[in-house]
Amino acid sequence: LAIKYSGKHEVLFCGESFHGRTILTLSVTDHPEYSAPYVENLPKGFKKVEFGNLDSVKEAITENTAAIIIEPVQGEGGVHIADAEFYKGLNELCKEKGVLIIVDEVQSGFGRCGALFAHELFGIDADIMTVAKGIGGGFPMAAFLAKEDVAGGFVPGDHGTTFAGSPLAGAAANAVFDAFEEEKLVEHSKEMGEYFLDKLAPLKEKYDFITDVRGSGLLVGVELNFEGADIVGKMLEEGFLINCTAGNVLRFAPPLVVKEEEIDALVEALDKVFSAL
Ligand SMILES: Cc1ncc(COP(=O)(O)O)c(C=O)c1O
Repeated sequence: LAIKYSGKHEVLFCGESFHGRTILTLSVTDHPEYSAPYVENLPKGFKKVEFGNLDSVKEAITENTAAIIIEPVQGEGGVHIADAEFYKGLNELCKEKGVLIIVDEVQSGFGRCGALFAHELFGIDADIMTVAKGIGGGFPMAAFLAKEDVAGGFVPGDHGTTFAGSPLAGAAANAVFDAFEEEKLVEHSKEMGEYFLDKLAPLKEKYDFITDVRGSGLLVGVELNFEGADIVGKMLEEGFLINCTAGNVLRFAPPLVVKEEEIDALVEALDKVFSAL
């Protein structure tokens, strides 16, 4: 849509990004372990910029730049949040240069980061937004949204897939929206995220090998000064399914309905695993 709407052919993407495993999304994914076998020999219409570094974006923009695609909070990259000035500057720069901003909210959206969409937290003036995961509440569904003028870049028939516009998926998403409202899940995510970070703070004091604890809502990262894969296995033995991204960042993305006592139990298990190292 960005390319058709703008008539330009270059798209910028950020270092340490993850946008998926199709050829297009692999081209803007900075994880060679996923992308290299497929995209190494393709023509490159995609340019990498440094996440959080506005000068790097400025330098990369040319008259051919259609858009920049960005995760407001980088998930796979290790739960990274850029400085507020970066997001603000990005808006101004992109507006000035006529570059569309595509926010990928597949992981960060639908309450995960303590707002309905994470880009709202940082005031990113998004032209196009991609969503999946949370929108279906477990039912397989994805969507992309665009501002009205940008959406006009497509005319009926331009875009479609076999399963696009599925009424069943639409009904599932409607039910998800109802649950979000009735159970105040976005507010709950924000509250529980703050609670979680508070509970993790003493662990950071206790263990020197924890180099950072950061997060937004219920997307939380604990950065270690060693590879974290073994911790994932040990936490599984304790009954907790966690993940490790970027090699050394334990990533926690608990269900949005998580309760304080469940967070307490998880932090206790983490303390137990860490103390046995
Ligand atoms: C930010 C982001 N974008 C895109 C994707 C890819 O989504 P899918 O696997 O549904 O293509 C993911 C998957 O985790 C993701 O985290």
